[in-house]
Amino acid sequence: MSAQRKTRVAVFVSGGGTNLQALIDARDAGQLPDGEIALVVSNKKDAGALDRARRYDIPARYLRRKDFAEKLEPLMREFEIDMIVLAGFLCILPEEFTRLYPRRMINIHPALIPSFCGEGMYGLHVHEAALRRGVKVTGATVHFVNEICDGGEILLQKAVDVLPGDTPESLQLRVMQQAEWKILPMAAEMVAKEIRNERI
Ligand code: GAR
Repeated sequence: MSAQRKTRVAVFVSGGGTNLQALIDARDAGQLPDGEIALVVSNKKDAGALDRARRYDIPARYLRRKDFAEKLEPLMREFEIDMIVLAGFLCILPEEFTRLYPRRMINIHPALIPSFCGEGMYGLHVHEAALRRGVKVTGATVHFVNEICDGGEILLQKAVDVLPGDTPESLQLRVMQQAEWKILPMAAEMVAKEIRNERI
């Protein structure tokens, strides 16, 4: 098995990239032994995540949303990508592209699916909705990506308490610290390992 190359992972981002950082930290701590972070792709030119990737010598590319249909698949082929992690990627991918990666593309969502998910539910909006509804527990979910927005099979979830006086920002930070940055690297390793083992 050790002769088998690692699963080559592309991480898709749109913002600051703290989840990308969690993946890099897990890799550096030996917690992503079956995956190699081979590429970072952003749909935002000024995404902090792109700078983060470059700081760690990970190839980083900016691709406009309107170029996805034409350029995304060739880019994956160029970097021999086996698996995709959507780590704060706030953009819906073309269905034709998603279909190329069955059980090979995962997403982190900042709530306990099926609560507060689906179209329009991303970033701070999710935490605003949770506070508006008055839930006492929220959390994060990692799921496989299919053609239904936030509808793929759930891999991991972790619950986080909502505290009195929480703002969307304070809740977002707690959900990241207590849930997202833990379960995303764990799920990435689970899938990377499965893909690597399939090649044997
Ligand atoms: C994270 O909270 C992630 O769960 C969320 O965007 C944030 C990105 O932060 N993703 C979604 O809402 C997807 N529907 P980051 O750029 O610091 O990782």
